[in-house]
Amino acid sequence: MNRPYIICHMVTSIDGKVTGEFLSSPTCKKACEVYYDINRNLKSNGFICGRVTMESSFTGGYYPDLSAYQPTEKTDFIPNNLSGFYAVAFDTNGKLGWKSNKIIDPDGDPGYDGAQIIEVLSENVDERYLRYLEEMEIPYIFAGEDKIDVELALFKLKNIVGIDILLLEGGSIINGAFQRANAIDELSLIVSPVVADKNDKPLFMDSIVQDFELVKTENKDDVLILNYKRK
Ligand SMILES: NC(=O)c1ccc[n+]([C@@H]2O[C@H](COP(=O)([O-])OP(=O)(O)OC[C@H]3O[C@@H](n4cnc5c(N)ncnc54)[C@H](OP(=O)(O)O)[C@@H]3O)[C@@H](O)[C@H]2O)c1
Repeated sequence: MNRPYIICHMVTSIDGKVTGEFLSSPTCKKACEVYYDINRNLKSNGFICGRVTMESSFTGGYYPDLSAYQPTEKTDFIPNNLSGFYAVAFDTNGKLGWKSNKIIDPDGDPGYDGAQIIEVLSENVDERYLRYLEEMEIPYIFAGEDKIDVELALFKLKNIVGIDILLLEGGSIINGAFQRANAIDELSLIVSPVVADKNDKPLFMDSIVQDFELVKTENKDDVLILNYKRK
């Protein structure tokens, strides 16, 4: 395969939603515990998230003052201190501000803590942001002019960075982009016994019809664990 193997690992509501208040409800607590437990044991080279999820889970909206940085050329930046365990941010316009080049998990969760950040960008990015990433020693790759071409991004992650397997961990919009690109090999769904709000987003935003095969089911204290493989 000329791209990493992708497992989409997500907590969902009964009605297949993945965003919104239900995620922090008491009912969903067990599902989240099961989710993080499985995340720690899936043995991947790290995880991918969309810009919105990276912001809400890790950067908290921080952004550097780019006036302090000189513009630099738009070419891939891959330093040679690659760690083998990555947090891959799909960040079309370079909106994410990082304070470290690694994820620092407050609980030291080995599923996240220490993951080396990689930025996947389109060319629609401020060139000063690239210098900021370089000074932070954050690798970046380009994969498209004004939006990210999932196929190209995955090709580079495999062939330039050397990544074999990644978890795709949301949210809805980035999952949908991967699903439309036929780039999801497995689904690992943790279904919480709760129905979501009408405004919450589905597992795959703007999805297309696609067949999967159910390969495993497990019931853990009313939390359903479902594993599917792409047909
Ligand atoms: N249930 C779970 O297990 C789970 C897991 C993770 C997250 N979540 C939830 O998901 C929510 C966020 O989900 P979301 O759907 O709003 O956003 P998202 O999927 O996290 O991020 C979407 C953003 O990714 C960027 N992007 C990069 N490449 C793209 C491409 N090829 N196609 C489309 N977008 C691309 C775009 O950023 P720009 O807007 O900058 O262009 C886009 O707006 C969070 O609040 C979190 O609660 C749930």
